[in-house]
Amino acid sequence: MPVDWTELAPQLLDAARHDRAWYLTLARELVDPADRLAVDVGCGAGGMSLAIARMMTCGRVVAVDASPAVLDTARDHIRTAWSDPRVRVEPVLVDIPADTAALRETLGGPADLVWASAALHHVGDQQAAVTALASLLDPGGRLALAEGGLPEQHLPWDVGLGEPGLEGRLNAAQDRWFARMRAELPDSRRMPYGWPEALRLAGLSPVTTRTTLDERPPPLDNAARKAVLADLTRRVGWLRPTGLVATGDLDAWDRLLDRSGEHWLGHRNDLFRLSARSVHLGVRPPGPSVNRW
Ligand SMILES: C[S@@+](CC[C@H](N)C(=O)[O-])C[C@H]1O[C@@H](n2cnc3c(N)ncnc32)[C@H](O)[C@@H]1O
Repeated sequence: MPVDWTELAPQLLDAARHDRAWYLTLARELVDPADRLAVDVGCGAGGMSLAIARMMTCGRVVAVDASPAVLDTARDHIRTAWSDPRVRVEPVLVDIPADTAALRETLGGPADLVWASAALHHVGDQQAAVTALASLLDPGGRLALAEGGLPEQHLPWDVGLGEPGLEGRLNAAQDRWFARMRAELPDSRRMPYGWPEALRLAGLSPVTTRTTLDERPPPLDNAARKAVLADLTRRVGWLRPTGLVATGDLDAWDRLLDRSGEHWLGHRNDLFRLSARSVHLGVRPPGPSVNRW
């Protein structure tokens, strides 16, 4: 069950808009005033590419994705949101790690910052991808991976329908889907250690991790409530045909997500958003570059 990125492209644009503040906060921390070349790998709709560009005074941000449809979405988004000629934002079709040599050529020199958010877990050999991205860095350059954290929570443990713990079981089903998805990727390999260790094995040091909490306590405003309902509806719809969600749970979700029914989640004041996202950062130590640029 491979992910259909063409189908997901509009959703990635919504995510880029939704995550704008998070990207800007991170870009402010990650971009150094002297940076001239940055890469956003698996850029989706280009939200972080734009945030990085905003923090640079001049240079290039290369927005890389393996899906032509997603890259078209990124190109449109960048065209409408970016016009400062001092920093060029360039969408490029690249499959990591297979096309690393072509990407190196496109960059034309070592990168100051490489960012990859929720992209490398879609690559069969994740360590090979981390090592490939580390090889693009200048000494002192940084590779930042936004991966992992805690699954987003929205509902109280007992919503009064079905067995308590409904959302926890939905997250567990998504985890099992994720294991299947990874097993079916080309050149799929297990990486039985965490992302910081992957960065160390790629020769980066020091390696640090920072996790930020995203909390919206109840009651949610209308926009946030709508976003939560849309997210739950999408996830239940996507997991339904996989057989990973029990029939009783699907029945409860159908009633909770039926806007004409008495149990519709939209009537509740106790919906919330709570999630944690981790960013792992590795620095290329000083010393001669292993690549001839
Ligand atoms: C879950 S989306 C994340 C998008 C964006 N970085 C974000 O955080 O919203 C994963 C992205 O990685 C891209 N992708 C998947 N495999 C890739 C690969 N091997 N090389 C480059 N991009 C890849 C997909 O096309 C998709 O745009």
